[in-house]
Amino acid sequence: MDKFPSLNLLSIFAIFAVLSPAYAQHPRHNMPDATAQNQAIAARPWMNPKLSPDQRADMVLRQMTLDEKIDLLHGQGMPGWRGKPMPNADLGNGGVGFVLGVPRLGIPIIQMDDAAYGVRLSARNGRYSTAMPSNLGSAASWDAQAACEYGGVIGRELRAQGYNMSLGGGVDLVRELRGGRTFEYMGEDPILAGTLVGNRIKCEQAVHVIGDIKHYAMNDQESGRTEVDVIIGKRAMQESDLLAFQIGIAVGHPAAVMCAYNAVNGDYSCQNNYLLTDVLKQSWHFPGFVLSDWGGTHSTVKASAAGLDNEQPLDIFYSEKMKEAVQSGAVPMSQLDDHVHRILRSEFAVGIVDYPTQKSVVQAERDLNIARKVEEQSIVLLKNEHNILPLDVAKIHSIAIIGSHADVGMISGGGSAQVDPPGSTSPEWQEHVWFPPSPLKVIRAQSSASTVQFDSGSDAASAAALAGRSDVAIVFVNQWSSEGMDLPSLSLPDNQDALIEQVAAANPRTIVVLESSTAVLMPWIDKVSGVVEAWFAGSGGTHAVANILFGKVNPSGKLPITFPLTEADQPPPQIVPPPPGAQGRTAVMRTGEAKPTFSVEYTEGLKVGYKWYDAEHKKVLFPFGFGLAYTTYSYSNLQVEPGATPAVTFTVKNTGNRAGEEIAEVYAALPASANEPPKRLVGWSKVPLNPGESKQVRVAIPQLYLSIYDEQQQGWKLLPGSYSFMVGGSSADLPLVKQVDLSATPAPNSGQ
Ligand code: BGC
Repeated sequence: MDKFPSLNLLSIFAIFAVLSPAYAQHPRHNMPDATAQNQAIAARPWMNPKLSPDQRADMVLRQMTLDEKIDLLHGQGMPGWRGKPMPNADLGNGGVGFVLGVPRLGIPIIQMDDAAYGVRLSARNGRYSTAMPSNLGSAASWDAQAACEYGGVIGRELRAQGYNMSLGGGVDLVRELRGGRTFEYMGEDPILAGTLVGNRIKCEQAVHVIGDIKHYAMNDQESGRTEVDVIIGKRAMQESDLLAFQIGIAVGHPAAVMCAYNAVNGDYSCQNNYLLTDVLKQSWHFPGFVLSDWGGTHSTVKASAAGLDNEQPLDIFYSEKMKEAVQSGAVPMSQLDDHVHRILRSEFAVGIVDYPTQKSVVQAERDLNIARKVEEQSIVLLKNEHNILPLDVAKIHSIAIIGSHADVGMISGGGSAQVDPPGSTSPEWQEHVWFPPSPLKVIRAQSSASTVQFDSGSDAASAAALAGRSDVAIVFVNQWSSEGMDLPSLSLPDNQDALIEQVAAANPRTIVVLESSTAVLMPWIDKVSGVVEAWFAGSGGTHAVANILFGKVNPSGKLPITFPLTEADQPPPQIVPPPPGAQGRTAVMRTGEAKPTFSVEYTEGLKVGYKWYDAEHKKVLFPFGFGLAYTTYSYSNLQVEPGATPAVTFTVKNTGNRAGEEIAEVYAALPASANEPPKRLVGWSKVPLNPGESKQVRVAIPQLYLSIYDEQQQGWKLLPGSYSFMVGGSSADLPLVKQVDLSATPAPNSGQ
């Protein structure tokens, strides 16, 4: 990412264009000749792409006035944000924020938009965006290539819409399944989540869009999110959420990290020296910039010293107050320059200077296909009694489609992640939004059944009557969620459980399709024949679901979270509401030196997600890593190669009669002296297999994944001793086990 091996036509154009006073009016100049290019570089040596991003940033920095530097350190408002008029508002691109450039030096404006699962606010700006499956859904693919394609769609659509920075990449670990933004995150395991978010960001940045990873760190509940103080030990945080960020950053090299609203161990994340400086910038050597979540900045001098580089979306602390602080010496010039350097070097590293955006039409068809394929890989088949699925079109004469606006579309997640459906006006904050086409229409088209009828499910008796008259009933149910709220429970809302019960009583050949933000409780599980977890399925979701139901695609997704039997079975702490009389989000954002009003202690320690259920011997509804297919697989012949990078090899066989892709999972139990939960995921491989085919699979395991964080030594270490490696198709089904001794080796990286 740091180097651009050859100067392409676009970058030559960019060099010329930024020199030309007529650039703004006439962006489509003829390509400059070599002389013009050389002159351009002579006049602005930092435009030479052969120099490193750091060299280029330093050259620009030396030319900048104090006011120009400060312009780079804050936002210019967001449409509708507290109504504060900002003088440069007309330079925005309609997104949620932007940072001024330095036109005289050829530094562009950073135009940002939310892009959790697609580009936000497109309809409002007369544009089109593709909704990808929810982030959690896409994590069920366990597929780095799918994550890359996901990022590619978002990156290209951002650019086509005139943006050069993405605000997506949510990777806080799912600890409390009712958390309202669970659908924006990548599950409960740091290695899976970090690997996937990293691949997504890598491919976003490959098309010259600054990638962002968020919300750093432990933004795990929405209730009181701007005033909650998360209390967590260093080892527990390093081995959970921070590890997800560490891996995401190592894999994807995001140029930006967004710090979170909440405080951690007493200090707000956006002025938390441990998080921003000790860990992110020093231990992980993060070279990019930290921007605050919207309204998450609470000071000037303290935040600057702690490592916050950019305030969003306004200029309360990082404009006039920053200038005064620099002039008085409270913020050293070297610190200010470091903030500016990080922003500039990121712009060069990702290529937003060399490859300016040019608005164009989004290639909707191409992206819809990708959205469908990613969803096909993300759907998890949870139950399939008597092989009710795939539906046998030759034998089924009538299908009842019931519930959840299945005559309209499939639901999506709300808040700042919300993508506008085609042809809509941009929805309101927390409006329920369905993406077309309707399951009814697509199932009708795919099925040869003589009747495919719909019942809204608002009257369970009428839905049950239709189910009773049909060969098979497919009940679509939803569990909507959004930023800014937590779910009251994991039960399906709006009497959907009762609807399923009644439909299944009328026809046990009932298949439930879940459109859910997170895990769902299933009191009806024994009464239905099939359960398909489709998550928030995105623009390609309906076709993907139909392709799974009718067997055009063999399901391969595996759960990235545990589905518990009850909410109370979850690890503590469960969502803690803010105390009565708490200040509330807006107040906290306005009150300068705000303080958290309540705390949540993360007493589960290392036992996040499946590690908790394992350690506590709690039964679950569906375990982490679980997912069925229309075929079966067997595992054999596990070998472990110890060494600097240990590796496991084993054989997977497709024992059924359909081609499929098995996600083979590798877990490790550490030596007893480590005091770790019983096992952790350390690797996996997605193995395509024809019927009857066997393949030998090798999974190399980075030492870091087998190590523990030592608080005394402030670093990771691999303990000598006996390690058990376990391989199989889910965290609860690991038929292969082998123990080996790994000797002590130097820590894989030092750290805070
Ligand atoms: C969210 C961020 C988002 C920002 C801008 C905040 O409320 O927490 O994830 O990027 O708003 O919309």
